[in-house]
Amino acid sequence: MGRRRAQNEILQSPVNTPARKRIGVLTSGGDCPGLNAVLHGICRTADGLDWDVIGFRDGFEGLLPPGDHIPLNRQSTAGIMHLGGTILGTTNRGHFMAKTGSGARGAIARSVLDRAKGTIEGLNLAALIAIGGDGSLATALQLSEFGIPVVGVPKTIDNDLEATAMTFGFDSAVTCVADALDRLHTTATSHKRVMVLEVMGRHAGWIALHGGLSGGADVILIPEIPFDFEKIAREVKRRDSQGAKSTMIVVAEGAKPKNGRQIRHATASGENRLGGIADHVGREVAARTDKEVRTCILGHLQRGGAPTASDRILATRFGVKAVQLIEEGRFGTMVSYQNDQTLDVPISHAVHRLRQVDPNGQLVETARAVDITFGD
Ligand code: F6P
Repeated sequence: MGRRRAQNEILQSPVNTPARKRIGVLTSGGDCPGLNAVLHGICRTADGLDWDVIGFRDGFEGLLPPGDHIPLNRQSTAGIMHLGGTILGTTNRGHFMAKTGSGARGAIARSVLDRAKGTIEGLNLAALIAIGGDGSLATALQLSEFGIPVVGVPKTIDNDLEATAMTFGFDSAVTCVADALDRLHTTATSHKRVMVLEVMGRHAGWIALHGGLSGGADVILIPEIPFDFEKIAREVKRRDSQGAKSTMIVVAEGAKPKNGRQIRHATASGENRLGGIADHVGREVAARTDKEVRTCILGHLQRGGAPTASDRILATRFGVKAVQLIEEGRFGTMVSYQNDQTLDVPISHAVHRLRQVDPNGQLVETARAVDITFGD
């Protein structure tokens, strides 16, 4: 607390003349590989413009008075690009939580917005960069509508935001899935088993589709294509009869059987969390075949660890672009990636818009062409 107060006093003390422009940044929501690379990109670009950067700790919570923040600069962000997680910390609950999902919009209390604005004005910030997924961007939008100059940077391993063709963290998660499949494949083959791997992705099957395709899955089950247990069992038997030594099934946490429901469990905090579909699939496949089945839930391994080279590059591009948007005064916008270009879109066009796998799209078609079945 003493350290925090000391930092606040430094940051709130009169700025030397001539005043240097000062911007704030925070990371919010679930973490993902590449967040530190964004911070690195922001600090380098801001330094090149002679601006100061302040990092708020633990997401939007750091905006609450007296403000929980640390100075960020070229030196303090040197050598962090390859680190997973976020040096600023994050939270996906708290005072600023905005509801996500189709059209839902939870208003942040006016008093909370007032207090956040007070912190930003007290620190004389020219703008705030909010790095987050759909829920955090919904919060960023409300801050923006409240008169706070905000620029958003999209992040999610799920890659499910409509307004950007790609988010950093996704490639790292997919690489983790492919690696898990490589490992599971050897043990499944030794024992002639069926292996079911459950992966993240919420209501979108991108991680399962890309991970399954790159990791040599035989069956991929995604939320966008409801599946039939009989069809999966038939495929397992067909492969068995043709001498295949294993069958690898990748199931997205949000996948569901035809006429069935996603598997969720309520947490003590009232949240409805997806998870558990792998065991369900495993039990049903075992009951319909004479195969031994094992399941594995990959979980937060997909979110941890170092970002891949591609994610480091994308994250750096996003950080650089965010500072450029501030320089151009384009507030209320979010960095977006389209056709190998970093662009910007209004945050209002970006939130609450889920991008799902097209069941008739080229990637699904490609997977089917190499004998992957979707259980439909
Ligand atoms: O949105 C990213 C994500 O990792 C989802 O794929 C997953 O369902 C969820 O977050 C897990 O959240 P938490 O870290 O709160 O358990």
